[in-house]
Amino acid sequence: MMMEGGKMKFEEVKLEELHTEEFINRKTEEISSMVGDGLAVNALSGGVDSSVVTMLAHRALGDRLKSYFIDSGLMRAGEPEHIVGLFKKLGVRVENIDAKKQFFGALKGKTDPEEKREAITQTFYPIVFARLAKKSGATYVFQGTNYTDIEETVAGIKRQHNIIEQLGIDPQEAYGYKIIEPLIQLRKPAIRVIAEALGLPAEIYNRPPFPGPALAARVIGEVTPERVKTVRKATQIVEALLCDTNAFQYLAILHQDRVTGIRNGKRDYGMQIEVRCWDSEDAKTGRPTALPHDILIRLAERITSEVPGVVSVTYNITPKPPSTIEAV
Ligand code: XMP
Repeated sequence: MMMEGGKMKFEEVKLEELHTEEFINRKTEEISSMVGDGLAVNALSGGVDSSVVTMLAHRALGDRLKSYFIDSGLMRAGEPEHIVGLFKKLGVRVENIDAKKQFFGALKGKTDPEEKREAITQTFYPIVFARLAKKSGATYVFQGTNYTDIEETVAGIKRQHNIIEQLGIDPQEAYGYKIIEPLIQLRKPAIRVIAEALGLPAEIYNRPPFPGPALAARVIGEVTPERVKTVRKATQIVEALLCDTNAFQYLAILHQDRVTGIRNGKRDYGMQIEVRCWDSEDAKTGRPTALPHDILIRLAERITSEVPGVVSVTYNITPKPPSTIEAV
């Protein structure tokens, strides 16, 4: 059952109970009848959840759905253009919204992890997305909230920015629209099955996890455009070299402390990149992947030669717990 207004009731639909076509048809019909002749909006990040929501809503509403890609300036190299282009091929028009100034403005001077996350949430929702929704005249907004998001929020593990009503905010009162959450009964494995059935490509339905705060989750200390550029370039190299490892997730982290290095025979007090590569089933626990030594050496060579200012590359060998997957 979908959420309408204040209260809701729903049960998990487990992967083994999922009837894919029936689920897709039922959600499409529910969306059509809820929105009626109205307009709806959604934000697409290219993650599997928001991609599935976009496809379902597009099926139900066609041109009465307006989809936005919000470019926070925190995404990976080429991601905004790539995702907008990918959906264009699927017949879905997505508008790219340049919100870099707002996000970097909110992050300026912040070094505390929770403050950084809060700055992103407060910029994404009320400042950028709610204004877009209002301007478009939409009466409905889609969100990709899934069953695990609800569970973790209720347990107080994670504060998800897509959980508005669970935080006691009435979106109708606060923002003037209602929220539709078509995936609220599903966990990720079931959502991946729906994604494939909807015709999304493997790069979407098999996409490794990527955090909501994007590269800001991988910058220790202040998140500035320059520091994101550094971690973005390192991420590109890590993803290129580790994409065939079958690992659960792999990432680059920019450290705050500098270390002494040597470049062209001169002392260079430079930046440090930490590489993490995880074996995991569900991200709740994780073990560092036993990467071959030559891959580790190649990572160091490429990162120090292709990312300006980096003089040190390390590999994390700590499991989760006590480590976490991300650094912030
Ligand atoms: P941690 O770092 O908590 O990460 O061990 C567990 C998994 O969750 C992802 N992650 C996030 N995902 N918003 C998200 O949507 C977040 O704020 C966030 N933080 C971490 C992380 O990439 C890993 O897969």
